[in-house]
Amino acid sequence: MPEHIRIAPSILAADFTRLGAQIADAQAGGADWIHVDIMDGRFVPNISMGPLVVAAARRATSLPLDVHLMIVEPEQHIPAFVEAGANIISVHVETCPHLHRVVQQIRELGAKPAVVLNPHTPAVLIEEILPEVDMVLVMTVNPGFGGQQFIPLTLEKIRRIRAMITRLGRSIDVQVDGGIDRETAPLVAAHGANVLVAGTSIFGAAEGIRSAIAGLRAAASAG
Ligand code: DX5
Ligand code: ZN
Repeated sequence: MPEHIRIAPSILAADFTRLGAQIADAQAGGADWIHVDIMDGRFVPNISMGPLVVAAARRATSLPLDVHLMIVEPEQHIPAFVEAGANIISVHVETCPHLHRVVQQIRELGAKPAVVLNPHTPAVLIEEILPEVDMVLVMTVNPGFGGQQFIPLTLEKIRRIRAMITRLGRSIDVQVDGGIDRETAPLVAAHGANVLVAGTSIFGAAEGIRSAIAGLRAAASAG
C-alpha cells in the first residue's frame, strides 16, 4: 500500500525578509509540513537557524513543523525546539551514539521522532530502531547547504528502507531531502519515499511557490 505523498517545503531557501508571508504562501499552496533546517557549523559546515526561527515559523502556520537537526549533541537542544513548536524532530544517526535514548527523549517531550542517514551511511544502522520511529529521512545530498545536486546512489537505500518498513508492517514515513525537483521526485517516489523536502525547487521557483508545490506533487504521484 503506497503511503500518501507529502510535500515539506524547506525554508532554508525562503526569503528571510518575508518569512511569514512565504510560509503562508506554502500553506495556501498545499504544503503538508514546513521543514526547518538547523545547522551548527560543527556536524555540518554551515550555520543556519535556531529555536527563535522555529518559534517565528510556529506563529506563521498551523502546519506541522518538521525540524531537521544537523547538530552535534542534539539531546542538549531538543527541549528548546519542542518548546518552540516543533512537531517532528529528526536526528542524524551519525550524531547519536545513544540513538534509542534520544528517540525516547523526543517522544517523551511530545514530538514525533525521526532518524536521518547521510548519503553514505548504510540502511542497516536503523534496522533495530525502526519500530520506535515515525519516519526515516534518507539524505539525498550531503547535508549543510541548499541547492545541491541529487545523489543517485541513495535510491537503492530508499528502496531497502521501504522494504524493511513493509516487512515490519508499520506505517512509517520515508522522507528524502536534497536536490528534490520535478525530475528527481518521480524517482524517489518510485523507490518508496513518501515525504519530499524541497527548498530551491519551491522557494526559488520562477513560477511561484504555489505552482511549484502543485508541480512537485504531480511529478511525485506520476512516480
Ligand atoms: C540540506 C538541507 C535541506 C535543504 C534542501 O542540508 O537538509 O533541507 O534545504 O535544499 P534543496 O531542496 O535546495 O536541495
Ligand atoms: Zn533538511
